[in-house]
Amino acid sequence: MIGIGIDLGGTSIKSALVDSKKGILKQFSVPTEANKGKDFLLNRLIEVVEHAKKEAPEAPVGVGIGAPGIISLDRKTVSNPPNLLGWDVVPLADVIEKGTRLPCRVENDANLAALGSARFGAGKDYEHFVMVTLGTGVGGGIIFNKNLFRGATGGAGELGHVMIDYNGPQSNSPTQGGIEAYIGQRFLSRYAADRLRQNTSNELFLRFKDHLEDLEPVDLFNAAKEGNAVAKDILRWAGEKLGFAIVNYVHTLDIRTIVVSGGVSRAGDFILAPAREAALSRMMDPFKKGFDILFETLGNDIALLGAGSLAMEISK
Ligand code: BGC
Repeated sequence: MIGIGIDLGGTSIKSALVDSKKGILKQFSVPTEANKGKDFLLNRLIEVVEHAKKEAPEAPVGVGIGAPGIISLDRKTVSNPPNLLGWDVVPLADVIEKGTRLPCRVENDANLAALGSARFGAGKDYEHFVMVTLGTGVGGGIIFNKNLFRGATGGAGELGHVMIDYNGPQSNSPTQGGIEAYIGQRFLSRYAADRLRQNTSNELFLRFKDHLEDLEPVDLFNAAKEGNAVAKDILRWAGEKLGFAIVNYVHTLDIRTIVVSGGVSRAGDFILAPAREAALSRMMDPFKKGFDILFETLGNDIALLGAGSLAMEISK
């Protein structure tokens, strides 16, 4: 059986043909260009499905979409995704079903990453874990007893908007000082550019000084690997913020395994070591036993595997 899995990100739309036994058969990616508006993006999603259909070795049974925002319990409607401006309440599954004549269901992107990890990835051996996805937005998914915890209406796990400083910076949501506002990709890049402007002899500043707006987290990891002290310090700062947020997740849920995925997590221990240290420094003693932060080694595939699995569940 084959399902089409889609990961609707703030920067790119990734899609895959997912086989129930063999996993990902083929993957595709196109830019999101969310600034071109909601209708443009909905059409683009329909094109993405049509393209995947053509490439499929057998007829796909359905489409599963991981989208940012709050998803309804019936998995059809997306509400208020912070990084897709102009999307308030969108009946996404119905639009895709009408445009492609394939059954479709939607789930929060980070929830699907959590599900993918529980079935195929770093979360496979755990009954309970919390997934934190570090991308353009920062998302979360809670796995309890091997299943997704969805809350009263489907919206549980908005972990990027859990506040660590209520007077802190704002991302695209009403909360202030949530970790998305510090380590969401664009915010981290902006912070890094500011820090480099204060270190004009630093090698990374010299490399990017005429186009600091192009600096991305990956440039920080590469510089950190080469021993760049400012890059290492920026990543340590990001890791600490993450660690403090994680303390809130552990205290709320009593779940002690945290799995981190998404682009920024590729910084590995440059971020995760300070996150562990910061979390342990503020955690109540009884919660420390068994506490750990893991890196999701399957990377972005996890979200696509989760979305493909959702597509296949529709036909069951
Ligand atoms: C959204 C989440 C989403 C995350 C990752 C956040 O801004 O609020 O719903 O899971 O970004 O895309």
